[in-house]
Amino acid sequence: MNKPILAGAFALTASLALVGAALAQSAGGLSTLRGASVEDPVAVEQVFQQETQRFNREYRQQPPLIPHSIDQYQIDLRANQCLSCHDWTNAGDRGAPTLSMTHYLDRDGNEMDHVAGTRWFCNQCHVPQANAPELVENTFEPSTGR
Ligand code: HEC
Ligand code: HEC
Repeated sequence: MNKPILAGAFALTASLALVGAALAQSAGGLSTLRGASVEDPVAVEQVFQQETQRFNREYRQQPPLIPHSIDQYQIDLRANQCLSCHDWTNAGDRGAPTLSMTHYLDRDGNEMDHVAGTRWFCNQCHVPQANAPELVENTFEPSTGR
């Protein structure tokens, strides 16, 4: 095959591919960023690994990072599955660290036997840590405690 014919064949293939893509997009009337139709389930890739060791705190008041996965634990208005291991009533049996006293103080500082409403949504303060690249540059330095 000589060169001009080969180039022509490539150009034709390329333009057919473009037409194909345009048709595919207009077929459903929608184009999605995920490259799949809206009703197709798209599995999330497990690109980054959850870190599963306990972490030192970077400053004294830091809510400790969560050293386990939390995907399966529901927290809503009525249910809080974290408490099935971390509440003082269960932690011994489950071998989990007990919530500290600050989680049982109401807003006036009274001690209660149940977790405070202000501490209900655990992941307002506690987050799992993943081994992932920084999304933005970060110049944070841990407190030295001095
Ligand atoms: C099945 C029991 C279980 C459930 C449910 C559970 N945890 Fe844990 N959690 C543990 C255990 C056990 C550890 C200690 C792990 C270790 O030492 O490696 C732990 C550790 C932690 C720590 C670290 C404490 C520290 O001092 O370093 C935090 C924070 C935490 N969990 C938060 C949560 C939150 C928030 C939820 C709900 C989204 C939750 N956990 C649900 C068992 C559980
Ligand atoms: C308003 C923020 C906040 C919320 C909400 C919160 N925590 Fe904490 N948590 C902290 C801070 C800060 C610490 C460390 C200082 C302390 O113990 O008070 C801590 C400590 C902990 C510890 C370690 C206790 C110890 O003595 O080592 C565990 C376990 C924990 N939290 C689990 C939870 C769980 C489970 C929930 C939800 C029921 C929750 N926390 C809700 C801020 C929060």
